[in-house]
Amino acid sequence: MSLELTAPAPEEPSVADDGTWLECIACGAQFAPFEDVRYTCDDCDGLLEVRYASPPTWDDFEGRGVWRYNAALPFEEGVSLPEGATPLHEVPRLEADVGVETLRVKHEGMNPTGSFKDRGMTVGVRVAKELGVGRLACASTGNTSAALAAYGARGGMETLVLLPAGKVAAGKIAQASLHDARILEVDGNFDSCLDIVQDLAARGEAYLLNSLNPFRLEGQKTIGLEILEEFHEDYGTYPDRIVLPVGNAGNTSALYKAFRELVQSGALDADDVPKLTGVQAEGAAPMVEAIENGWDETRRWDEVETRATAIRIGNPVNAPKALPGIRETNGTAVAVSDEEITEAQRDLAGEGVGVEPASAASVAGLRKLRAEGVVDVDEQVVCLTTGHLLKDPDAAFEAGDDPEPVPNDTEAVLEHLAE
Ligand SMILES: Cc1ncc(COP(=O)(O)O)c(C=O)c1O
Ligand SMILES: [Zn+2]
Repeated sequence: MSLELTAPAPEEPSVADDGTWLECIACGAQFAPFEDVRYTCDDCDGLLEVRYASPPTWDDFEGRGVWRYNAALPFEEGVSLPEGATPLHEVPRLEADVGVETLRVKHEGMNPTGSFKDRGMTVGVRVAKELGVGRLACASTGNTSAALAAYGARGGMETLVLLPAGKVAAGKIAQASLHDARILEVDGNFDSCLDIVQDLAARGEAYLLNSLNPFRLEGQKTIGLEILEEFHEDYGTYPDRIVLPVGNAGNTSALYKAFRELVQSGALDADDVPKLTGVQAEGAAPMVEAIENGWDETRRWDEVETRATAIRIGNPVNAPKALPGIRETNGTAVAVSDEEITEAQRDLAGEGVGVEPASAASVAGLRKLRAEGVVDVDEQVVCLTTGHLLKDPDAAFEAGDDPEPVPNDTEAVLEHLAE
């Protein structure tokens, strides 16, 4: 099976371009990477993965941010704002409260447009330029549209985004709007938006930059590379576990791929690969359902609901890549309630780390798994927070305290404070 953690480094096929090619994870068909536009396998419609003849080792990396890791990417540089090099926060009070040996928070909300999507877009838009395509498009729960709009603008390209009407947080629409994407609000959920944009892409109307596009995941691998490098610098070990929110399961797939490539090159021992642990909202948890039932694929949930709108997704397209990632690393998946998500959002805010609801799902999931004894007290854990607090100001107001009106007078203010 091509997605095994310990699969050897692949042989370079004749279709490769400078040691890079596309390969179907289902049937193994191989394709030239930049000759034609292609999102899935011509033969079986399976998911494609970018493959490299020489997977990277630690010594290959230099510089800062996503492009530090260009030895693990298809190009030397991309359309950049620049992105990556996000903080790996210490959160001592939360660490003690959850009850694990080490807890660090990788805050992807500190990317240029406020989410991890920027890491995928810097690579994806670079590939779009290589292919010479016209309009760029995506379906989005919000963050992908913000990142596509910004990186499209940076690259001087036209962008089109399809959003589920009424289900996208204000900050994200504001970004897509100001960066001048054409915004279509669809009377349906995210999965319907993705169906439509895939149809448009198949008809040659636009270049698809959802995480179905295998090049997006290449950029997102760098989250995993940054975590391992920084964690190792601080502790001399790698984290036992990485906990992350799951929507389309792009990051789960990307982190797993980063680890597999490090194992292939000999840079990382298979035993040192962190347990990938996915967290979904109870109202949108097809990955959790598949893990709990031992299924090889997810069941499409037609009705999904959660306050964490970024992960309000019922048909995770990357499940065939992500399910082996969770299983092969001995990880797991867990669902949390909206109340648990809001509580975790407050916990993180109490450490000065401001995140949107979907991001807090990672911490809520860790808390739950620790309470259930699935996560041990002696574990070293990294939680991924995927988007910034300001993405969803309404959720922040709901989770936080209301402002208190006071008169325009110092004595009255003092009186009010004493109450
Ligand atoms: C803030 C946030 N967290 C998590 C996710 C889900 O990420 P993935 O699709 O990689 O599972 C998204 C994607 O929509 C997001 O915007
Ligand atoms: Zn195939």
